[in-house]
Amino acid sequence: MEIKIERAKTLKQKPDQNNLGFGKYFTDHMFMIDWDQDQGWHDARIVPYGPIPMDPATMVLHYAQETFEGLKAYRNPNGDILLFRPEMNARRMINSNKRICMAELPEEMFVEAVEAIVKYEQDWIPTAPNTSLYIRPVTFATEAGVGVHPAKSYKFVIILSPVGNYYPEGVNPVKIWVEDEFVRAVKGGTGFTKCGGNYAASIAAQVKAEQNGYTQVLWLDGVHRKYVEEVGTMNVMFLINDTVVTAALEGSVLPGVTRDSIIHILKDWGYKVEERDLSIDELMEAGRTGALKEAWGTGTAAVISPIGELCYKGEKVTINGFETGELTQKLYDTLTGIQWGRLEDKYHWTKLV
Ligand code: COI
Repeated sequence: MEIKIERAKTLKQKPDQNNLGFGKYFTDHMFMIDWDQDQGWHDARIVPYGPIPMDPATMVLHYAQETFEGLKAYRNPNGDILLFRPEMNARRMINSNKRICMAELPEEMFVEAVEAIVKYEQDWIPTAPNTSLYIRPVTFATEAGVGVHPAKSYKFVIILSPVGNYYPEGVNPVKIWVEDEFVRAVKGGTGFTKCGGNYAASIAAQVKAEQNGYTQVLWLDGVHRKYVEEVGTMNVMFLINDTVVTAALEGSVLPGVTRDSIIHILKDWGYKVEERDLSIDELMEAGRTGALKEAWGTGTAAVISPIGELCYKGEKVTINGFETGELTQKLYDTLTGIQWGRLEDKYHWTKLV
């Protein structure tokens, strides 16, 4: 694809790499491409980062025809740039866009666009420990009009943000609130997509969790309010005795790239992994009896986040004495070792830019 380039007149000062937080700073440029019914995807360009003017009737503002992705670029010890399984993000966005009835950017164009903007902004890839360049692609409806139907035009945009840890806790255990009032998704809905609406629907519970001193929400299934699904920003896994249990992908859970990678690594190490219904009663009982040895979340932003406490209907269960478990730490070290190019990538997951 031909990509035109318009260079920013002035470049920003780069932030302190030791104090990046998550998603607070954005680079000098962004990638953009448009879609309409006559021309398909056209006019690929890298332009200065900045506002995107919109008609107040633009459909995304009214009916939320929008999807996004999240992946990262890393610097390996030789100074090369690595991406982690970007084709998985491309395919997931295609599946999300199908469900939201939006134009789908082909996998090769998605990956090419990511590579182009990351290469152009490579000076922004931080090198301090646990930092990376977060890549946020987004597709949204740009047609102006307030009739409810699939829009006739879309934009695909990639912005970049140098980031550190997602949670203020860093890689230390987080406290999780099990939500029993609100639900996030149901089978047949949009739970498996990365659409903004899923996240909008999650915020009320997130606020409630924070008011109670918890970092994130663990969602139960929307029908029975019984089976464990995912945490707001990550998939979730539990080591119960010697088996790792996680929710199956049946439509209401996000098919995480990190989730898939960790299941792969665990099976490679000989662990039993069960993708199945896990009721909150079974989980809390495992917590009470000590059968619940470790718990962690998996996500691009969250990486591997140990879970130290669950609170369900007022009952609290502490996991592994609120310490990061041995397996959780080993998974974190292995995954980040591959992502940052410190360990051999025997799965061929990283892509040199
Ligand atoms: C990610 O892990 O990339 C996400 O999109 C989660 C979140 C920050 C919404």
